[in-house]
Amino acid sequence: MTQSAQAAQVNAPAYVKNAKLIAWVAEMAALTQPKDIYWCDGTQDEYDRLCAQLVAAGSFKKLNPELRPNSFLAITDPSDVARVEDRTYICSERKEDAGPTNNWCEPADMRDKLQTADDALFKGCMKGRTLYVVPFSMGPLGSDIAHIGVELSDSAYVAVNMKLMTRMGKGVIDVLGADGEFVPCMHTVGAPLEAGQKDTIWPCNPAVKYIVHYPATREIWSYGSGYGGNALLGKKCFALRIASTMGREQGWLAEHMLLLGVTNPQGQKFHIAAAFPSACGKTNFSMLIPPEGYKGWTVTTIGDDIAWIKPAADGKLYAINPEAGYFGVAPGTNTLTNLNCMNSLNRDVIFTNVALTDNGDVWWESMTDTPPAHLIDWQGKDWTPQIAKETGAKAAHPNARFTVAATNNPALDPEWDNPAGVAIDAFMFGGRRSTTVPLVAEARDWTEGVYMAATMGSETTAAAFGAQGVVRRDPFAMLPFMGYNMSDYFQHWLNVGSKLSAEGATLPKIFCVNWFRKGADGKFVWPGYGENMRVLEWMLGRIGGTAKGVDNAFGLSPEYEDMNWTGLNFTKDQFQSVIGVDKAAWTQELKLHEELFQQLAYHLPAEMPATKAKIEARLAA
Ligand code: GTP
Ligand code: SPV
Ligand code: MN
Repeated sequence: MTQSAQAAQVNAPAYVKNAKLIAWVAEMAALTQPKDIYWCDGTQDEYDRLCAQLVAAGSFKKLNPELRPNSFLAITDPSDVARVEDRTYICSERKEDAGPTNNWCEPADMRDKLQTADDALFKGCMKGRTLYVVPFSMGPLGSDIAHIGVELSDSAYVAVNMKLMTRMGKGVIDVLGADGEFVPCMHTVGAPLEAGQKDTIWPCNPAVKYIVHYPATREIWSYGSGYGGNALLGKKCFALRIASTMGREQGWLAEHMLLLGVTNPQGQKFHIAAAFPSACGKTNFSMLIPPEGYKGWTVTTIGDDIAWIKPAADGKLYAINPEAGYFGVAPGTNTLTNLNCMNSLNRDVIFTNVALTDNGDVWWESMTDTPPAHLIDWQGKDWTPQIAKETGAKAAHPNARFTVAATNNPALDPEWDNPAGVAIDAFMFGGRRSTTVPLVAEARDWTEGVYMAATMGSETTAAAFGAQGVVRRDPFAMLPFMGYNMSDYFQHWLNVGSKLSAEGATLPKIFCVNWFRKGADGKFVWPGYGENMRVLEWMLGRIGGTAKGVDNAFGLSPEYEDMNWTGLNFTKDQFQSVIGVDKAAWTQELKLHEELFQQLAYHLPAEMPATKAKIEARLAA
């Protein structure tokens, strides 16, 4: 078949010149057998049309335009509300290269299951549905550090979310040209429709899910889920799991990090990259509003979830946000905790799994002090404060989210779209720990920082399926997102550091933080949110050489006098209860580090146990 005949067969617009793309779409259409094929151009017109179509199908509810213009509510199947880590696979050639923290399967066996066996899951999986061709760029279009992907999906919800989350559409096809490279991303909800079969409002496969990555060929295959990171394949699948393997080969870093700019009253600007596990505060920290008393300070958002970081010739690490929108946690967000976020959500939003108010707006837990008298909850049931009291029913699912373009954020950093990125001054790593880990500790050198990141623990959240509130090790906040062996990744971080210092560069400082220590009453002791500015100021003081601190077993932390308390009533005792490094607790904690090192023994850098030995020696002293 000629290229143009094949293009016609897959309904490709005339501007599509990439033969490889056309051939791949044809091959995938033959495999999945959609009823038709639609190429997304990324226009507002197209977005509006697809949203209207989702409304007509009952999948979207249009919110009251007077209260929330151009916004929609989607409600998922109760089985499809979060990432599915136990169904996520890294299919490297060798099991060791996926490492002990990933599910692994022989690539040939997985291909058989998904593509080639008689009952392969992708065979005919799009029957009765439209195949959307979604071209997207992770990073500014045409930038040296950006990479292109094309997602083929049978979900219109995915297509419209990708429009908000990435640079999506015809511009990407233009950059791709005749022979550009792209990461092929296959996605199906895994719910083919037989002739005459009525669709559900949230098609998915409640029983079978696979989120599969082939690092060697840079392919993604996702089956059975329509939700978040399972389905918006540019995000965790591409920008973290596949990109981490690309970064390892090419000498850069793909990280689960927010990026922010912070400017002091003297007009000096710093850039911070911070890795916190899922639902542990990245979106909030990236949009921080300094408390009263911080006159002249501003914080601006570059990214809220993912950073791609590359060493440059000047010896600095430059970071971009590969995304163009936010898929953020709704519950807990309000005008007191995150005003910038609330203001981002005034219009043009897709909400998923929040509650619907009687006047056609949205609500979620702690959005307002007093909940509305009546709601339709995320499962479509009547909800009142009384019902909630009696049954514990949540109005919004704990992992309910909003999707919104970054350009809606009033605190968006002017450099957010700069193809060159921003120079990083400090890294932060922070888990959710009700005990043990101090509010802030500075690593004495790069290796100690890598150790702090590698051994980070965090209580599990609703962002992934499974038990919640259980402490697990989440190295670099990347446990669910690593595309290769975790120990090799630690080594990669050590290598990036030693290469830069060998060139005479000053490395960014590394800090460990914990906003989540609880008191005997079970409540968070640290006020968090905007008050995290005080910790940020101390860190900047350390970078500038003006702030003091004291060495302890685990890094270096401020004393009460070393922090700025203007405008906050926080006593020395309260401070002690969030900053203290308790000997007994840390003896226990180090046992958990040891367990992690046993698990990661293959290729574990010798620096890890050596750093642990130093901490043990300091604890014993
Ligand atoms: P992902 O999108 O899952 O990667 O999460 P994230 O790291 O961006 O988390 P996000 O900022 O959305 O916060 C998740 C939850 O933590 C929300 O319910 C917040 O209200 C809460 N949270 C964020 N920052 C703080 C803080 O400083 N203190 C306390 N106590 N809670 C916080
Ligand atoms: C996370 O779980 O870290 C998220 C949400 O940011 S998801 O896109 O579903 O991965
Ligand atoms: Mn995330």
